[in-house]
Amino acid sequence: MPGADTPHKMWGGRFRQPPDSDLLEFTSSFATDRRLLRWDVVASIAHVQMLGATGIIPASDAAAIADGLRGILADAEAGRVRVKGPYEDVHSFLEAILYRRIGPVAGRLHTARSRNDQVATTLRLYVKEAILHLVAHTVDLMDATVDRAAGAVEIILPGFTHLQHAQPVRLAHHLLGYVWMLDRDVDRLMDCYRRGNVLPLGSGAVAGVSFPVDRQRVADALGFARISENSIDATGDRDFAVELVAAAALLMVHLSRWSDELVLWASEEFGFITLADAVTTGSSLMPQKKNPDPVELIRGRAGRAIGAVTALLTALKGLPSGYQRDLQEDKDIVFGAVDLVTASVRALQKFLTGVEFSKAHMEQATRRGLLTATEVADYLAGKGMPFREAHEVAGRVVQEALARGIQLWELPMEAYARITPLFGRDILEAVQPIAAVEAKRAPGGTARAAVEGQLHSARLQLDTLRMWVRETEGRLQKVSALAER
Ligand code: ARG
Repeated sequence: MPGADTPHKMWGGRFRQPPDSDLLEFTSSFATDRRLLRWDVVASIAHVQMLGATGIIPASDAAAIADGLRGILADAEAGRVRVKGPYEDVHSFLEAILYRRIGPVAGRLHTARSRNDQVATTLRLYVKEAILHLVAHTVDLMDATVDRAAGAVEIILPGFTHLQHAQPVRLAHHLLGYVWMLDRDVDRLMDCYRRGNVLPLGSGAVAGVSFPVDRQRVADALGFARISENSIDATGDRDFAVELVAAAALLMVHLSRWSDELVLWASEEFGFITLADAVTTGSSLMPQKKNPDPVELIRGRAGRAIGAVTALLTALKGLPSGYQRDLQEDKDIVFGAVDLVTASVRALQKFLTGVEFSKAHMEQATRRGLLTATEVADYLAGKGMPFREAHEVAGRVVQEALARGIQLWELPMEAYARITPLFGRDILEAVQPIAAVEAKRAPGGTARAAVEGQLHSARLQLDTLRMWVRETEGRLQKVSALAER
């Protein structure tokens, strides 16, 4: 048996010289994929139990291997085994430690398996867990936002287009806009989960395996919905990783857009929000400063999430089918993106707890900028004037108000009447911001009833998503428990 410092090798029979240590270090992925240890143990246990159950290896050997694997994981997680050293990857580390602990019987673990179908399986298990966590945290953020929205139905602020005052909206409506954005992100992640929920193990290196394996049994034990149909495709496929990274990048872009707005709103010029001390940072020079650093960093880190998509697609684009070592690069990219985006979702949720909305600033802003000029056109269209003409006439009302430097509700009735006799006294009411808001009664609009309907739909949707999280969590926990002693 090799000593503690001589790594047990997964290959070597045909070699006369050991690998160059610099190149071994260069090609090793152990520093990155060591975090896959638990899922690699889980997948190995499911595999070896199947080998034992089908009689491909003796049942007692299968039991000894499964036991040994569980012991290694327990020791690694308790810090009794160093998950470090001159190994090619987590798979060779695991086999080497197993060999050291239970002897040559460890060599039976790799029957009917290649690292190519092994790593594809382990990474898929990780991806399922990563999606679960990312979805769970995003649902929490949605939930918190719906709560803030429910408390903000009474607050009116300008809706912006081109960052110019456009039309007044309820703050609740504005906030719910982000909830539906995140809902699509979650849907994409769940979709990616579903499509990636396929077992590659049993594909071998490229051609399949020669033993009478029971792949469905392994799929069931590992919680995969089905087994892959083609061994060449299954070992070379990283679409599931691309999909996760792409969905995460879009989620990050959404967080970044929202963050940008929060930075803007916290500025002296907007003053739409004030920030609690706990979510801000001071300046080393300017004593008065209170900076929204967390959201600036979300915005700043979005570039890395987007870069991950390019990095992964570029790693794949030149590869012939089947496994190529280039595929090893997937893990650094996927882990980096998942960590970054998950942490950003959580940070934004934390940040929002320190955001106080300034009703006064928001409502003051709705009383500037002739925000309700569209109501003038709608009013005339309601009186039978074709909208295009009504728009033109409303433009004259705008000119009149601009010339006098007053708001639309301050323009005297005579001035309205001079422009067209279609105006009645009720125009002065119709151009008030709150009246403009309440006029947007069509579903999806910003009137109170429509916003309350939206809050209701959002809460129903959150119930559905939370159920998915609970069920998926339960399923993954059961699979993960294969590794418990
Ligand atoms: N560490 C490799 C990876 O992450 C898995 C091993 C397959 N290596 C090989 N030479 N066939 O992709």
